Amino acid sequence: MSVSPAHSTGSPKSSSESGSGSTTDAAVESQSEIGAAALTEQRIVVLDFGSQYAQLIARRVREQNVYCQIVRHDLSADRIAELAPKGIILSGGPSSVYESGAPRCDPELFKLGIPVLGICYGMQLACEALGGKVANTTTREYGHAQCEIVDPGSLFDAMPSQIDVWMSHGDQVSAISEQFEVLAKTKTCPYAAIRHRELPIYGMQFHPEVTHTPLGGQVLANFVHGICDCQPNWYLSDFAEVTIRQIRETVGDRRVICGLSGGVDSSVVAALLYKAIGSQLTCILIDNGLLRKNEQALVIDEFTNHFKADLHVVNAEDRFLASLAGIAEPQEKRRRIGHDFIECFKEEAKGIQNAHFLAQGTLYPDVIESGADPDGPAATIKLHHNVGGLPEELGFELIEPLRDLFKDEVRRLGLELGLPEKLVWRHPFPGPGLAVRCLGEVTRDKLIVLRAADAIVIEEIESAGLYRDTSQTFAVLLPVQSVGVMGDARTYDNAIAVRSVNTDDFMTADWSRLPYELLARISTRIINEVKGVNRVCYDISSKPPATIEWE
Ligand code: XMP
Repeated sequence: MSVSPAHSTGSPKSSSESGSGSTTDAAVESQSEIGAAALTEQRIVVLDFGSQYAQLIARRVREQNVYCQIVRHDLSADRIAELAPKGIILSGGPSSVYESGAPRCDPELFKLGIPVLGICYGMQLACEALGGKVANTTTREYGHAQCEIVDPGSLFDAMPSQIDVWMSHGDQVSAISEQFEVLAKTKTCPYAAIRHRELPIYGMQFHPEVTHTPLGGQVLANFVHGICDCQPNWYLSDFAEVTIRQIRETVGDRRVICGLSGGVDSSVVAALLYKAIGSQLTCILIDNGLLRKNEQALVIDEFTNHFKADLHVVNAEDRFLASLAGIAEPQEKRRRIGHDFIECFKEEAKGIQNAHFLAQGTLYPDVIESGADPDGPAATIKLHHNVGGLPEELGFELIEPLRDLFKDEVRRLGLELGLPEKLVWRHPFPGPGLAVRCLGEVTRDKLIVLRAADAIVIEEIESAGLYRDTSQTFAVLLPVQSVGVMGDARTYDNAIAVRSVNTDDFMTADWSRLPYELLARISTRIINEVKGVNRVCYDISSKPPATIEWE
C-alpha cells in the first residue's frame, strides 16, 4: 500500500473508473518507503526496452507467485543493485541494437552476479554487449516455430526436446562470442536460446511470455525458481492481510473517504478499506446521471447490505445535464464532467468529519505509464484519459492500496475479499460514463434511449454466456436519424451502434466476432423494445485506427 499527499496534476487514468486519479513527485517518496514490503522484498525486475509485452512478462512472473517490477531500461547498475532483485529480465523492443540511439542497459549490470534473462531484443543486447553479433534477417519472422532444445540445462529443465514457440523479430543474433553456448535452435534461428558459460546470463529469441508459446510459463518458472532461486511468496491473500494491517496502522483513528463508481477498482479499494477500518470509511457515489441501468442500485446494494459501509449517494443528474446542455464537442463534454465531479465531491466531502485520507484505485499500469515511479519506464508515457483527477486543495492524503497490482490481480483480490463475481468481472466503464456513448449533445431523452439499448446488449451477451469472453461490450447512440418502416408507417428514428471488443490492455483491441444469432437477437430486441430506435449496426473496427469508445 502507499500513502501520499494528494495533488492535482494527476496520472493518466486507466480505463475502468470514474472518479479520480492522481500521483505526484511528492507522492513518490512516501510510496517507495511504504509498500507491501514483506511480499515485494524478493523481486524480479523487467527492464523495459519499449516492448508491447513488458507488462505481460511481469504478469507472467507474478503468476509464479513472485513479485515483479517494471523499471526503466537505463536504470544504473548501482540502482539495480540497491533494488537487489533475484533476477533481471531484459524485455523485447522495437529497436535494432546496431542503430545509433537504440535503447541500452548499463553494461555493468552483467557483472552484478544477478541472473539475467534477455528476451528477443534483450537477448540481442546482451549478446552484443558480450562480444556477439546481431544482424537483420532477410525476412521478418513472425509466428509459430518449432524449437529444438539441444541442451536443457536449468532453463529448459523437465521440458520436452521439441517445443512450440512464438517468434516476432526482424533482427537476430548472427554470431555468439565464445563466452556463450547454444541451448536451443530452430530451422531459421541457430541461437534460439543461449547461456553464458560462466555468468548466470541467458537469452532467448522467442517470447516465453505469450500464450502462443504454450510452455513459456514453464520456461519462466525455471528461470524464476530454478535459476534465480525465488521462493513463491506473492499471494493475494497475503497481500490483503499485509495491506489491511498497514491501512490500520496508517489511518489510526482518522477517517478515509473513498469515491465509488461501480467499477472494479474502486469497489476493491472500498472492500479492502472496509475490512481494515470498518466504520471509519465513508464512501461517496456521485450519480451524474450518466451511469448504466441499475448501476446506482447495484452499488448501494453491495456497499450498504453486504459491507454496511457509510455510503453517501449524491444525486447530481440535474447538475451534470445542465452543464452538458448544448455541448457537442467530446473534449469539452469530458472537461465539464470532470469539473462537476470535483465540485460535487468537494461539497460532499466537506461535510464529513475527521476525514483525513482519500482512497484511490490507482493500479500498477497507471503508476508505470504515468512516470510516477522514478525507477519506472517513464519514457513510455501514454497520455491517456484523466477525467476527474481530484485536486490538491481538497487537502487529503492519498491512500492507494492497489498501486502494486495489475488488473487481473485486482479482480482476484476482489474475489478474495468477498465481492460478487458479477461486480469483479464487470467490463470497464469510462469516467464520463454514457456521455461518451451519446454522441453529440447529451440530453435526458437520449440517455433514456441509450441506457435501455445498452441494458439489452448486456443482458443478451450475458445470457449467451459471452460476457467474460469479451473485454468491453456496449451500445452507442448515434447522432443520426434514418428512415425505417414499422407496420404501415414510415419512421425517422435513431440508430444504435453495438460495440464489442477483445483486448488484453485496452491500448489495442479487436472487434469481437459475436455470433450472428446473438447480433440478430440484440437488434430485434432493441428495435422492438426501445422506443425511438429503428436501426442497429455492429461496429467492426479495430483499435487502432478506431478507438474503443466513439468519442
Ligand atoms: P479508447 O476509447 O481510448 O478507450 O480506445 C480505451 C479504454 O479507456 C476507456 N475510456 C475512458 N476511461 N475516462 C476513463 O476513465 C475516459 O474519459 C475514457 N475514455 C475512454 C474506454 O472505455 C476503454 O476501456
